[in-house]
Order: sequence, then C-alpha cells, then structure tokens
Amino acid sequence: MRWFTLNNFPLENKTIFLRVDYNVPLETTVESRRRSKNTIKIADNSKIKASLPTINYLLSKNCTIILATHLGEPKGKFIPELKTDPLANELQKLLPKVNIKKLNDCIGKELKAEISKAKSLSHSTKTTQKQIFLLENLRFYKEEGENDFTFAHSLADLADVYINDAFAVSHRTHASVSAIANFLPAIAGFLMEKEVTNLSKAFSNVHPTVWLMGGAKLDKIELINQALKRANHILIGGALAFTFLKAQGINIGMSKFDSSSLELAKKLLNEHPNKIILPVDFVVSEEFKVKAKTSIVKHNQIKNNQIALDIGPETIHNFQQYFIPAKLIVWNGPLGYFEWAKFAHGTKEIARFLGKLNAIKLAGGGETAAAIQKFGAEHNFTHLSTGGGASLQFLSGKKLPGIEALEENYKNKKWGMKTN
Ligand code: 3PG
Repeated sequence: MRWFTLNNFPLENKTIFLRVDYNVPLETTVESRRRSKNTIKIADNSKIKASLPTINYLLSKNCTIILATHLGEPKGKFIPELKTDPLANELQKLLPKVNIKKLNDCIGKELKAEISKAKSLSHSTKTTQKQIFLLENLRFYKEEGENDFTFAHSLADLADVYINDAFAVSHRTHASVSAIANFLPAIAGFLMEKEVTNLSKAFSNVHPTVWLMGGAKLDKIELINQALKRANHILIGGALAFTFLKAQGINIGMSKFDSSSLELAKKLLNEHPNKIILPVDFVVSEEFKVKAKTSIVKHNQIKNNQIALDIGPETIHNFQQYFIPAKLIVWNGPLGYFEWAKFAHGTKEIARFLGKLNAIKLAGGGETAAAIQKFGAEHNFTHLSTGGGASLQFLSGKKLPGIEALEENYKNKKWGMKTN
C-alpha cells in the first residue's frame, strides 16, 4: 500500500474536497431561435459517470462533498461559457435524489460561509436529502495552473480531507492536484485506483505483448521507447506511421509527418526491424473533406497529390494476425481520421476485432477513448482510460505529479488532525 484509499481511511461525517476531472466535451445548441438563446450541453458524460462510485461511497458515509474540477482552458480568466453550471445540471440528472448546489467561486470566506450555512440548515431540519457542492471552474484562477500554495491552502481550507479521483488531470502540477496535498490528508478515489491498477497491467511480463500506436500527435517518442522495452511487436498506424515510412525514403504524398523525428525513426527501424510493424496499404484521397473520393493504394504507391487518412484492408488483416496470439494488447491513438466515416474503417474494425479476443486489452488517450466509444466498442476492453495526456504519460513510464502527491502524503504525514 503506497497511498491512502477510501477503504483504509476513516471518512464518516467528514467534509471532503473531491477533485474530479469533469473536463468534458461541450456542445452549444440554440434553444430558442427567436430569442437566439444558446444552451451549453454536455456532449459526452462518461467522465462524470466514472466519478459516481466514489461520490456514492462518500454519500453512504454521510460526508459533505465539495466537488472541484477544471473545464476547458480559460487560462486564469473568467469565461462565461466555461462555467461549471452545465456539469451541475448533468450530475443532477445522474443523482436525482441528491441536491446539487453550484457555487460561484472556488475559494473565500463567503463561499465557506455559504457551505457552512447549507450544512447547518440541513442538520437543523434533519433533512434526509443529501447535498453536494460544485465549485466554479478552478482554472478561472491562474494560481491553479501555477500550483500556487496560497491558492491550494484556500481550497484545502474548505474541507477536512482531500480526495483525488481525477486521474485524467494528474499529469498536471496544479494546485488542486499537487500543492493541496500539503495541507490535508490526501486519498486516492476509486477511479484513481482503478486507472492505476489497470494501466499498470501494461507493464506486466506476459507474452506475446502487442502495442498498437497511432493518433495525429507525433510527440510519442517516450511511449515508443516504453513499447520497445515491453512489447514483442509494435503496430503503427495513424499519422505516426508516415514519419517511419518517410524515414525509409518512401513517398507519403501530402500525408502528415514529423520532420524533427525522422532521424530517430530511422534509428529505431534499424535497431528493431522485426518489432516495428508498419502499414502495407492505405486509404488515400486527393482532398481533405468529409465526402472525399477515396482509393486504396500500397504503402509505397502514394502519389504526390494524395493524402493517406486511414490504414487499408491488407494492413487491418495483417494487424489482426499479430493480435490473435497476444496475451496483452495496449492501444494508444486511432489508426485513421475516424471522425469521418470514409476514414474510420481501420479504427472501427480493429476496435471490434479486439472484442473477440481473451487478452488483457488496455486503451488510453483521449482520442482513442472517443473513437472506441463512437463505435460502441468500450465493452471490448479490459480497461478504457478516462485519461488523455495522463494515460500517455503513465504508459510512457513517467510518474504523474498527482500520484506522487498522494504517495508523499501517505509517506510523510501523520493525519490525526487537520493542519492549518
Ligand atoms: C483531459 O481532458 O485530458 C484532462 O482534463 C486534462 O486536461 P488538460 O490537458 O487541459 O490539462
């Protein structure tokens, strides 16, 4: 045991500062055309749902919960469209019997007084209805991103105990993720535990292990290094594949690649010629649009005026042959431009195919999860991480500041009482 957990720390009747990651995709709908009133809605509530086991457990222990999250990237400024009100509405739908109270700030005497007043009111009327407070967007304060100790202390001042259930933001050294653990007992929530337990399976010594890597972003060198240490084979798709093909002197037409990684790609291919498996065909187009005319070409026959946007059928078949005997499969990054149906086939087929296999199947990365959910294939996986950047860092073998803060707190502090 290297951190406090919900099961090994006494929590009855405590006031909890619960850091969650409700950084969800939003969509704006025009509610009333005449008055052109815009409503902001949650496009995907899976991160909110993932926090419910911890919330329900704390409610069962009679805790007062103060929920805190960031939403989007307001960079220390107040942006009305990024207020946490739609999150409160969504949580209210998921927990209809609980009173969700949205607060208009994150810190301060007035806020503290508001929480105390609501708490004492519910105690004096002996109401059985439970109440959760949701703070305003933490990133409206620039101090959050600066890991400011004074700001963290003000957050901690609201509660008796800090719980981090926000694995997905634990790669950030932010006040509500890191500094706050200096002021309160700090505990890992159920989602945090689940993420770490499951993603750690990526480092199990079972074979054959296959890592599947794709995505549009090319800054994955540390992840590739980790994969080279762990996997028997690394299958590469998405934009990542073009850097490797280009490094071999193959024409990739207008396809995206990372010029700064070409030398490294060349070196990796020389050192691991049998481990790195590249696509052998692609779906290409002469234009980047949703209804583009497409064709399938061999990997070395992409023309100058073509852009490759998905892996082809032969590659899908090839990749499947590597998956069949695998005992552990780790997936990060979609294999094509899955947002458009014409280029979604590779990602969709692989996501569905994995459902037929008995291996441990882990998937992480914001886009990977979005693609898998889009194709309704989430049940095909042992674990689908809620983390984008966080799961990338974790799978790269790096320590996450949010996890380090919990471990330090467990190691260094005796928490008989709150230290102010
Ligand atoms: C995420 O959505 O990946 C997390 O909320 C982290 O968000 P960030 O990249 O803006 O820190």
